[in-house]
Amino acid sequence: MKLAVIGTGYVGLVSGACLADVGHQVICIDIDEVKLTRLKAGIMPIYEQGLEAIVQKNVQAGRLQFTSSYEKGMEEARAVMIAVGTPPQTDGSADMRFIDQACESLAPHLQDQMVVIVKSTVPVGTNDRVLEKLKGLSTKTIDVVSNPEMLREGVAVKDFLYPSRVIFGTRSPEATACLHDLYAAIDCPKLVMSPRSAELVKYANNAFLATKVSFINDIANLADALGANIEDVANGIGTDPRIGHSFLSPGPGWGGSCFPKDVHAILHLAKEHDLNLAVCHAAIEANEEARTWVIKRMKKHLGDLSGKRIGVLGISFKQNTDDTRDSPALELIQLLATAGAIVTAYDPAAVIPTTFITPFTRVDEMYHVCDEADAILITTEWDIFRTLEPKRIAEKMKGKLVFDARNLLDPKSVEEAGLIYQGIGKIKK
Ligand code: UDX
Repeated sequence: MKLAVIGTGYVGLVSGACLADVGHQVICIDIDEVKLTRLKAGIMPIYEQGLEAIVQKNVQAGRLQFTSSYEKGMEEARAVMIAVGTPPQTDGSADMRFIDQACESLAPHLQDQMVVIVKSTVPVGTNDRVLEKLKGLSTKTIDVVSNPEMLREGVAVKDFLYPSRVIFGTRSPEATACLHDLYAAIDCPKLVMSPRSAELVKYANNAFLATKVSFINDIANLADALGANIEDVANGIGTDPRIGHSFLSPGPGWGGSCFPKDVHAILHLAKEHDLNLAVCHAAIEANEEARTWVIKRMKKHLGDLSGKRIGVLGISFKQNTDDTRDSPALELIQLLATAGAIVTAYDPAAVIPTTFITPFTRVDEMYHVCDEADAILITTEWDIFRTLEPKRIAEKMKGKLVFDARNLLDPKSVEEAGLIYQGIGKIKK
């Protein structure tokens, strides 16, 4: 089918390119002319494994185009997908400005029987709101469905093409049929439900995953205090099929552009209905504790951090992405610098926002963070950090503390190099 996609961020561009790849005719619409020019030149706006190849392949095949014109993009389209951002506001609610702008721009180009697909993560009830808004802007007979994205950064293309399920939030058989046609080539369960249920699935999904991570971070701190090995404990509980092994890796806390936004948004949604989601509140509290625990432990080993040279390995919020939004690594750099430490940091891909003004030195090779360092701190689980050679670290460091907040290294080999290993519940076997 012909599909228009509004927004060429990591959701819109990945969705558009993947749907073109499975045979649809896709036109991605964006208002950012610079971004469109770069996309037409094959330059990606984001760092995503496999994205450049799949975009170029489908542009060359004539299945994927880019335009700033809603008229051109929506011409003869059977469906139009809204994939614009819904950034958090200070009170935790979602900023609906870009959704509203997209509705106002697409309305004049609606045709009878067209299906509007809300792909963006939106507050529950948005589907009804978009339908009402479009009815006020257009006399055409259309439907609005919810098809929330479940893409993880760094593996978004794989997650789109091989999802565990796809959620169809619809109110008519015709709209359901349209989504079945759109995802016909994607082999997975298609779960059909009401739009409100589909919208809540998205928030509940992320809130649960964030809670699972906060839980294992809590247990890792307990394991550390008790001398238990968190990797064995995580394996022990993860083998229970009711729990599962994923999202049981302890670290400095969850971050990124989704978990923090979505957990705060679901709390805001609940508060609007005089409900208090105690478990989600606890997940946020535990997540903040995960960061301060690292600082407390650093102080326990080093004493006053003022003047101490600390090398940080990792700046992005997780591996395989350049995204530093709500990155625990950036927050820890800020906390360390605020405590007076002299911080150097390395990351293979992170793009640091210009708004981050905390003084620190970024180096271009991972071992450089060890030079004369009193301590090094691993904050992001880049695979390259697993190859760090303890003896080489020891030669360069002034101090001895290796704080491995992602449990990437082997405590025994670190200690054999004469260094002190501090993981998160990871003890020498
Ligand atoms: C998440 C959801 O997984 C995805 O389905 C949704 O569409 C968007 O939000 P993403 O934000 O890209 O995706 O990151 P994810 O891989 O889920 O990790 C989220 C955070 O949890 C990261 O900060 C990560 O470092 C942390 N995490 C994840 C852990 O600390 N331990 C784990 O075991 C897993």
